[in-house]
Amino acid sequence: MNDNIPQTIAIIMDGNGRWAKQRGLPRTAGHKLGADTIRTVALAANELGVKKLILYAFSTENWKRPEDEVGYLCKLPGLFFNKYIRELMEKNIRVTFAGELERFPSDTQKVINRAVNDTSHNTGLELCLAINYGSRREILLGIQKYADEVKNGRKNDLTEEDFSQYLFVPEDIDLMIRTSGEVRISNFLLWQLAYSELIFTPVAWPDFNKEELVKCIEEFKHRDRRFGGLTK
Ligand code: FPP
Repeated sequence: MNDNIPQTIAIIMDGNGRWAKQRGLPRTAGHKLGADTIRTVALAANELGVKKLILYAFSTENWKRPEDEVGYLCKLPGLFFNKYIRELMEKNIRVTFAGELERFPSDTQKVINRAVNDTSHNTGLELCLAINYGSRREILLGIQKYADEVKNGRKNDLTEEDFSQYLFVPEDIDLMIRTSGEVRISNFLLWQLAYSELIFTPVAWPDFNKEELVKCIEEFKHRDRRFGGLTK
């Protein structure tokens, strides 16, 4: 299974709300289960030899949701790390984040920073949570930083590889999965998805699991990635 495994996988974890509604539950129940799915999928990706898993947990647009839902989403990292940080440590998983953490309540910032620090020496899977993340904003911030450097005397000689280093997520994505049937990118990793293989599965995020991940990876392995060139 280890050959031709995508090194970087990004997932838009969609469908928590619909999953809950179909069962007569509040939307937050879907998010709660969705957080447990993060654990399942991170452990599976780690076992399979994936290097980096980037999960879209909170977009810059999600602030528009009702206050109680936003409040619950802000609490979830705390609940998640209380429950699972020990296991993530045991499995050698390193937690990172992408996005502007500053807008979250200070408790949320603290638990995330603590998880990042506690796991910083781990060498297995990098589990990157995209929170208060928006790709256009990420690109804009990168451009501003670069422009400042040029203003301060840096030579204006930017390459594509250099520019990646100005982003929250510098890696190209091999495989992008979106759950729950919607077929769009929703301001996620616009630069990094340039040559990704895309998989849209009807499975809702709370029902996604190791078996579904393996299915996606198997499909990825059969794709003919040409990066704009021709097949050999
Ligand atoms: C999209 O489903 C999902 C989200 C906006 C939130 C995703 C968050 C988690 C899975 C948990 C985060 C946990 C941690 C630890 C960071 P939706 O609500 O848009 O679903 P719908 O399209 O069915 O309404």
